[in-house]
Amino acid sequence: AADPRLQGISDAIRVVPHFPKPGIMFNDITALLLRPGVFKDAVDMFVERYRGMGIAAVAGIEARGFIFGPAIALAIGAKFIPLRKPGKLPGEVISETYTLEYGTDCLEMHVGAVEPGDRVVVVDDLVATGGTLSAAIKLLEKDTSSIMQCSHLSISTA
Ligand code: PRP
Repeated sequence: AADPRLQGISDAIRVVPHFPKPGIMFNDITALLLRPGVFKDAVDMFVERYRGMGIAAVAGIEARGFIFGPAIALAIGAKFIPLRKPGKLPGEVISETYTLEYGTDCLEMHVGAVEPGDRVVVVDDLVATGGTLSAAIKLLEKDTSSIMQCSHLSISTA
């Protein structure tokens, strides 16, 4: 049987048609964030999935991976790595350009954030084409010879 928390999470995500462009069904998690019990359920489900698996790092994708990622990282005792839009990180970065549902974008990460052998979980609010997640994985693999735990967290899908 499905976890009963899933229905509450699903119900709390607002679907906004034609945002930010015509034809896009935007899954808005801000309504979920206004309900502390549901917000906690979402974080808890990810924590339960990844706790005790030797996860060294949680990598959060800007912007909404920054909302869920740190909460998950703290709860499982992992470091948090922000994967940012271009030009935001002050140190030496590596970049990965990717295609979005609506345009192209780029993610950057500080060199050396991942150490060899780190198991990394990538966190974001949703996967649509998978382009962003794929770029995140490439970025993390570029940084070191780390073993990627190719996991994504999706609390909302199109
Ligand atoms: C959204 C979402 C994911 C990505 C998923 O981000 O938060 O990061 O799109 O799409 P994909 O699977 O087709 O790559 P958005 O482009 O809205 O950027 P933002 O988080 O900076 O607002």
